[in-house]
Amino acid sequence: MCSCVTQEENNMALVPYVENCSPLLSKLHSASAQFEFNSHRVTVSQDWRRHGVAAVLWDAAVVLSVYMEQGGELTLKGKRVIELGAGTGLAGIVAALLGAEVTVTDRASALDLLSTNVKSNLPPGCQGSATVSELTWGQGLDRYPAGGFDLVLGADIVYLEDTFVALLQTLEHLCSDATAVLLACKIRYERDTRFLELLKERFRVEEVHYDQQRDIHIYKAWKLPEPRAEL
Ligand SMILES: C[S@@+](CC[C@H](N)C(=O)[O-])C[C@H]1O[C@@H](n2cnc3c(N)ncnc32)[C@H](O)[C@@H]1O
Repeated sequence: MCSCVTQEENNMALVPYVENCSPLLSKLHSASAQFEFNSHRVTVSQDWRRHGVAAVLWDAAVVLSVYMEQGGELTLKGKRVIELGAGTGLAGIVAALLGAEVTVTDRASALDLLSTNVKSNLPPGCQGSATVSELTWGQGLDRYPAGGFDLVLGADIVYLEDTFVALLQTLEHLCSDATAVLLACKIRYERDTRFLELLKERFRVEEVHYDQQRDIHIYKAWKLPEPRAEL
């Protein structure tokens, strides 16, 4: 197991880490992955061996990026966007290229590669539109404005049952009832659907897209209004 893969993540076995992997997994072991978005070539560096799941690009990020580029969120220009568990940062980078002001977040151990990827993919005039910042779900949330975002993005962040409550708490903090949440999810295990059940207790949730080839669902969610206190 590489040093950055926690015991929980190893138990979840997103993918087994092996040096001589099958062609299906080999893309995760490449030094980089390239895409063309909004007329920009985006190249994200990967480093699974040193940094684990946060340092490879997952299909969910690609599907979410294509969805945004194709106008799934109408216009992102000038929108305040935050990405959770950004990993290599593709979705946040694409949102910035589409004109949003993006806060791209992950755990501290993921930030070096994330910062490198964000910096190297934004043209000089766009550098100020993305900020990389540490956000471990459920922790230090007061560093982020409550309800201060138009859109919250998450690609393949629903996979560790132990984090579900903290992730929900984070979404509740970041969202007002006008904030949209877009979660691109690969449902690997029945337990992953438990997060959606939890989410539905506090958010209205709709599936807005399914990529059959990659088996990725995109869910859109809005926070439900707080119940009025009884007089
Ligand atoms: C499967 S990776 C997905 C990365 C990226 N969004 C993508 O789709 O390519 C899961 C991401 O969630 C992050 N993550 C896991 N637990 C977290 C936590 N408790 N707080 C913040 N981020 C977390 C990991 O560091 C990792 O970047």
